Amino acid sequence: MKKAQPISGSFSNSQQQRLRRSLLAWYDHHARDLPWRANRDPYRVWLSEIMLQQTRVAAVIEHYHEFLRRFPTVERLAAASESRVLAAFSGLGYYRRARMLHAAAKVIVREHGGEFPEKHEGLRELPGIGRYTAAAIASIAFDEPVAVVDGNVERVLQRVSGKRLTGEELWRAANELLDAKRPGDFNQAMMELGATVCTPRAPACLTCPVVEVCATRGELAVTAQPLPQKKREIHYELDCREGKVFLVQRAQDASLMAGMWELPEKVGANGVGTPSYTLRHSITVTDYTVKVWRGSTASPPGGKWIPVGRLTQTPLTGLARKILRKADVL
Ligand code: ADE
Repeated sequence: MKKAQPISGSFSNSQQQRLRRSLLAWYDHHARDLPWRANRDPYRVWLSEIMLQQTRVAAVIEHYHEFLRRFPTVERLAAASESRVLAAFSGLGYYRRARMLHAAAKVIVREHGGEFPEKHEGLRELPGIGRYTAAAIASIAFDEPVAVVDGNVERVLQRVSGKRLTGEELWRAANELLDAKRPGDFNQAMMELGATVCTPRAPACLTCPVVEVCATRGELAVTAQPLPQKKREIHYELDCREGKVFLVQRAQDASLMAGMWELPEKVGANGVGTPSYTLRHSITVTDYTVKVWRGSTASPPGGKWIPVGRLTQTPLTGLARKILRKADVL
């Protein structure tokens, strides 16, 4: 009788083959219809992968279309001003990603004649492209058989193998499982499975395509606990007159959102009077209660009156956009 041979890695040969077949068959029927899956243009694949880092799919879709409308090619992106690129990214947060994207576009145009390197090693040399993104672009756009590991893939690998794989073990396990004939689809299927079925809490094992080869069927407890959220209150002034709004620019050397525009903070507002409106905003581990006061600002230094019509071209912080939207200014 033929018996599955355990191999030196994390999965037996038969486990690998069954997983590949079932996972890809599932992906062929259930893949979400996402705009960046419409073709394998490396510019689009790259843009989507950068935008998807730390951002939900729904939020990315909105920005993805608008970004491509403004910068339809890598050449147009390379030639744009930094401020226009940041403006198109504003709302997605993490502006370092936008700066790196812009820098990489310039390198691709200047040093590679506008063509993307096709191998993950070459892609990895570009600004802002790490191991994950290089493997994602190389496999999805160019069919290179290299596996990706992100948070979703990590969880799937741990549950299917029943082992607490870490660091390099995860990359080895992902590459062991990879379907070398359809690496881009395989990688996306693993991420999709983690995002939609093999979720951190209450995984949907009953509908999982690889449940039969899974060592744990959801029972491997996920160790990472969410970080406790801190609470903070913050007050802003919103001064909008004659079609202009008063905004201040963050310092160019600020560690977060450098150079972006926001509303001036209101000082000494705690406990005095009633704000015009309140909203909630979360940034990483802090939940902010944001109180907005309409009226005349003290016009602090570093500020500028910006015409409302120019706001979509201005690199605003995510919170500033939210405040301006709520006030129907944007
Ligand atoms: N997460 C990041 N990139 C993805 C992709 N291409 N498919 C599914 N999930 C993803």
